[in-house]
Amino acid sequence: MAGYRLIENARLDARNTFGVPARAGLLVEVADTASLPELFGYPMLRDGPLLVLGGGSNLLFAGDPEGAVLSMSSQSIRIVADDGEVAVVRADAGVEWHTLVLWTLGHGLSGLENLALIPGTVGAAPIQNIGAYGVEVGEHVAVVEAFERQPAATVRLDAAACAFAYRDSVFKREPDRYLVTAVEFRLSRAPRLTLSYAGLGDELQAMGIDAPTPSQVAEAVCRIRRRKLPDPAVLGNAGSFFKNPLVAATVAGALKAAHPALPVFPGGGNTMRKLSAAWLIDACGWKGFREGDAGVSATHALVLVNHGRATGLQLLDVAHRIAASVHERFDVALEPEPRLVGARW
Ligand code: EPU
Repeated sequence: MAGYRLIENARLDARNTFGVPARAGLLVEVADTASLPELFGYPMLRDGPLLVLGGGSNLLFAGDPEGAVLSMSSQSIRIVADDGEVAVVRADAGVEWHTLVLWTLGHGLSGLENLALIPGTVGAAPIQNIGAYGVEVGEHVAVVEAFERQPAATVRLDAAACAFAYRDSVFKREPDRYLVTAVEFRLSRAPRLTLSYAGLGDELQAMGIDAPTPSQVAEAVCRIRRRKLPDPAVLGNAGSFFKNPLVAATVAGALKAAHPALPVFPGGGNTMRKLSAAWLIDACGWKGFREGDAGVSATHALVLVNHGRATGLQLLDVAHRIAASVHERFDVALEPEPRLVGARW
């Protein structure tokens, strides 16, 4: 057993949640991380361009990836430390994110409940520091274990070394350097709930719950997500296509004065504010837009969708037009959140 599988000329259509066509010259599926030193002895993997693919839920193939594509399929979850109050849970990169969230809740551990139902894998979670409903995964990461390509060796990075920021980390900034193999999360036995996100409180109230358990918070999050965000298994998408833009507080103040309904959030310390990209895009009339099979979700303006046969380039073209119209109307620059493969923004 080599611990990995090589597939030549592999179709990636079913391996990206936009469901757009793409091919890999070589796809390497790694079930056992112990095989990484052997694999990275091959010059193509050691020195060439490499795309590490998780659930494919945060990227857009605007073209075929150069070089090899590697996917981690290792699946174990276990508790590696537990003092009765705080436990450290270790999950392999290939585990489905939502499977991990349910596993931790089933073991009486709190921390990841607000991140329920986010598509993708555990290995991808720290890369863009997934976040939702007032929580970012970086807050609960103890250690990210990764294989560093050069020198070929396993490294363990604590949360500070991961340099987590809004939808950002060292792994996103240096995409060719590390391959995440496992993540260890520090989770609490006593629930420490984050209920600050307004819609979450409303949802719990609608469910008739005053003092929620972590599992009930996860259930409320699932209900909001199912209502607002299209299911990639039904309608191709990669969640939010744009980051919420960070602008100077003075700029945010002027925009808010001109457009009182614009949601403005804290972000980037005292001098910066985060604007709602969804609101800006919605205000420009894009919600529900469709041209051929490329479009914008009718339930959330931040989500680009593939109605069937759109290509990555067609979706990218819609994204450019959205950004141009927001720039023209509000003088705010939007940046894509997913990784673009085969194109630059
Ligand atoms: N809004 C509109 N039109 C819309 C949708 C939203 O005007 O079509 C306005 C509403 O005023 C709403 C506000 O935008 O109150 C914020 O919307 P939402 O609560 O959906 O949050 P978001 O800022 O659009 C972010 C994350 C999501 C995450 C939610 C909840 C980013 C780029 N996106 O979206 O993450 O689920 O908050 O915390 O930060 C993702 O990253 O893929 C993702 C879905």
